[in-house]
Amino acid sequence: MPWRLSKVEQIAVKLRVNGRDYSLKVAPNARLLDVIREDMGLTGTKEGCSIGECGACTILMNGKKVNSCMVLAGQADGSDILTIEGVNGSDGELHPLQKAFIDAGAVQCGFCTPGMIMSALELLNTTLEPSEREIKEAIAGNLCRCTGYKQIVDAVQLAARNMLGAKHRH
Ligand code: FES
Ligand code: FES
Repeated sequence: MPWRLSKVEQIAVKLRVNGRDYSLKVAPNARLLDVIREDMGLTGTKEGCSIGECGACTILMNGKKVNSCMVLAGQADGSDILTIEGVNGSDGELHPLQKAFIDAGAVQCGFCTPGMIMSALELLNTTLEPSEREIKEAIAGNLCRCTGYKQIVDAVQLAARNMLGAKHRH
């Protein structure tokens, strides 16, 4: 638990997280990761290295992936944030990326998975048919100790194919 300043010294922060508006008082040194996990109870976002190197804490901030352990909550004031809890498909189903991670066997211990999905989502939001190289670049900041990455790349390719197929059907 990071050191917290007294109430008087806290700062006001407004955040939109997964479509819900929050007004919070936080310490000037509070990290966005802690506010998400502790103040909002959204523990799908993981803490691994705490120094911006593992990607376990990846979220989308205004559509761009960031390591939430490296962002102060105050810096994020006014931002629109998406965490893994806000990622879902139509009708409350799993998102095609989540389904593909399961189908391709890309989840083992699962610790890296939320961050991987957020990085892959940023890519698929802008790139309908990503190359293997683009996928590898997109997840380059996300470490996985279990899978060897092949299944993760396969999963992102599978999700891209399924999402494109669904687009053509509509
Ligand atoms: S916990 Fe943030 S990058 Fe590792
Ligand atoms: S599945 Fe265990 S770290 Fe990636």
